[in-house]
Amino acid sequence: MTQPALTQFWHPICQSTDVDEKPRRFNLLDDDIVAFRDENGIAAFRDLCIHRGAALSLGWVREGRLVCPYHGWQYDRTGACVKIPSRPADAPIPAAAKATVYHAREKYGLVWVAMTEPAADIPLFPGDIYDLPEWKSFLSYRETWKTSASRAVENFMDFSHFPYVHEGLLGTEETAEVAPYTVEKREDGLHYWLEQEEPSDLYGAGGVQMVRYEYTLVVPFTIHLKKIELGSGKETIITQFTSPKTPKSTEVFVVIVRNHSHDEPDSAFGDFTNVIMEQDRPVVESQRPEELPDSLREELHIKVPDAASLLYRQRLAALGKVEVFGPYGA
Ligand code: FES
Ligand SMILES: [Fe+2]
Repeated sequence: MTQPALTQFWHPICQSTDVDEKPRRFNLLDDDIVAFRDENGIAAFRDLCIHRGAALSLGWVREGRLVCPYHGWQYDRTGACVKIPSRPADAPIPAAAKATVYHAREKYGLVWVAMTEPAADIPLFPGDIYDLPEWKSFLSYRETWKTSASRAVENFMDFSHFPYVHEGLLGTEETAEVAPYTVEKREDGLHYWLEQEEPSDLYGAGGVQMVRYEYTLVVPFTIHLKKIELGSGKETIITQFTSPKTPKSTEVFVVIVRNHSHDEPDSAFGDFTNVIMEQDRPVVESQRPEELPDSLREELHIKVPDAASLLYRQRLAALGKVEVFGPYGA
């Protein structure tokens, strides 16, 4: 069976509010995309005119058509060129005069693009809770990191760095040892969990508390962390949607959804996470190579705690991102 390529997955390119009737350029999978919105909704094309290679994002939308800024060729929403102004109105238009149209949708306040026929749907939240009234959501964090999407995902999956990168907030050096844990392999990703004492005054809840962390990875670049405060039962899902702009440039979107404290400001929950993300960022940006190495032999893996990230690398390998796998230490 051939594995879907990265172009066959939905990836977020921006927030919904970033796209209006003025065409605008975005990056995805090392290519340029132009996105715009009209009364028929959102559209995304490859940012390239077939005529002489001008960027369509410098053009404009007229009557639902994207107009190239260079010689005014007009493309409809299917990508077909329907007008070449320098030619007589009744002159035939070459069949090859087409723009490349991508699949575009909006979900979770973000614009999602699949560059080829999608092999999977846009990732759901665990339990598909996003639209339920008892859950409240907001976009907490959005930054471009100088790294690959897979490094950024692997960081979010990894809890054994808590005592060092997030000392006093998510972990302490005295509790650095990681107990063996089980990773459940799912059709669309991985699932694993652990419980630990969180040393911080989490969300102002007051003092150290036991928290269950449930991680759900959806291949290739979505990672959910459901935090359950074991005392109160409050549940908060912190989700990183990770946009692979280029091999060394990744936009990180963090959406937080909670089933409690709707009356409190979102910042009471987002500020904590944003501090964590900014603690992670310089360490992740320091990793070399920026992309996960092609071979597992190039880095050293310890079964506990690295089991989840090893399985993640195997899943990416199946997509053709990481090629060779070797043994890892006990
Ligand atoms: S380059 Fe687009 S119309 Fe000529
Ligand atoms: Fe971290």
